[in-house]
Amino acid sequence: MGAEPLTTTLPRERATGTATAVAHPNIALIKYWGKSDETLFLPRTDSLSMTLDIFPTTTRVRLAPAAGEDTVVFNGEHATGEPAHRITAFLDLVRERAGSTDRAVVDTVNTVPTGAGLASSASGFAALAVAASAAYGLDGDPRALSRLARRGSGSASRSLFADFAVWHAGTDDLSSYAEPVEASADLDPALVVAVVNAGPKEVSSRTAMRRTMDTSPLYEPWALSSAADLSDMRAALVRGDLAAVGEIAERNALGMHATMLAARPAVRYLSPASLTVLDSVLELRRAGVLAHVTMDAGPNVKVLCRRADADRVAATVRAAAQGGAVHIAGPGPGARLLIEDER
Ligand code: PMV
Repeated sequence: MGAEPLTTTLPRERATGTATAVAHPNIALIKYWGKSDETLFLPRTDSLSMTLDIFPTTTRVRLAPAAGEDTVVFNGEHATGEPAHRITAFLDLVRERAGSTDRAVVDTVNTVPTGAGLASSASGFAALAVAASAAYGLDGDPRALSRLARRGSGSASRSLFADFAVWHAGTDDLSSYAEPVEASADLDPALVVAVVNAGPKEVSSRTAMRRTMDTSPLYEPWALSSAADLSDMRAALVRGDLAAVGEIAERNALGMHATMLAARPAVRYLSPASLTVLDSVLELRRAGVLAHVTMDAGPNVKVLCRRADADRVAATVRAAAQGGAVHIAGPGPGARLLIEDER
């Protein structure tokens, strides 16, 4: 393994020159937290997510052979600094595979609040992987696209797929990819997203993961228990057992946050407002409503519940979220290319 190139290089005439793709965020029910290889974005553990049907990112890539550098437009504004650099580095990878030196214009419209633990990088790099692969003429096979998206942001590997996806940690570039996972049609879940703070986070997930792995005595125990959580989760999805799905997701996420709290120095993403939302979810459970939480690298809280209960859960969470926005999401579609006039 490891000898093959990242994606198969196709003849240059397959490159479309311009392509637009759309992708949605995903929220992990079994978390990715920690890399075993920072260059290849190989995670320490397998993870499993639900793709959402809200907050899509639409990205257009147009080759600009005469240009001396890439241009990145983000929500209508010329991007510079770290966000633009990450996109150029990703395009360098695509160019290397495609045997091209063409620069590109990348135009991204992102509807998710950036940097708020709502996985804007997942939808962003999934859409970019799909659009850039088409524009430069790379393999459009879902597994190749998932592996490519992973190099932009680990969680992006899962946004290629609709509904539920598992990302196999793998041991090298070839074996680390996401694919759809089986779930019962009876599940009918909703994720209620409570945005308690839409601003950018203070510590990036990249820095926080590294510090947690390097210094937290709780990291290895969590990584081991996460493997057991994943197999329990897969079984619960197949059974259509939403109560078990919620319980496992909640314990996995709280465990991940425990690893960070035990890092030196500690990383704490949850704010007082997050804890107020967590309390409101406990109240819902006491009242007999099926509801469980998950949280990522930010203060926002996502509540997994039955779709039929989503309005009630949203109302409770909205009251607790101290003025923050609340969104209801269902399982969403995989990433796809748009035909130009769909945009
Ligand atoms: O892919 P990144 O660097 O945005 O890391 C995401 C990590 C978590 O959102 C906290 C968990 C996950 O699996 O998505």
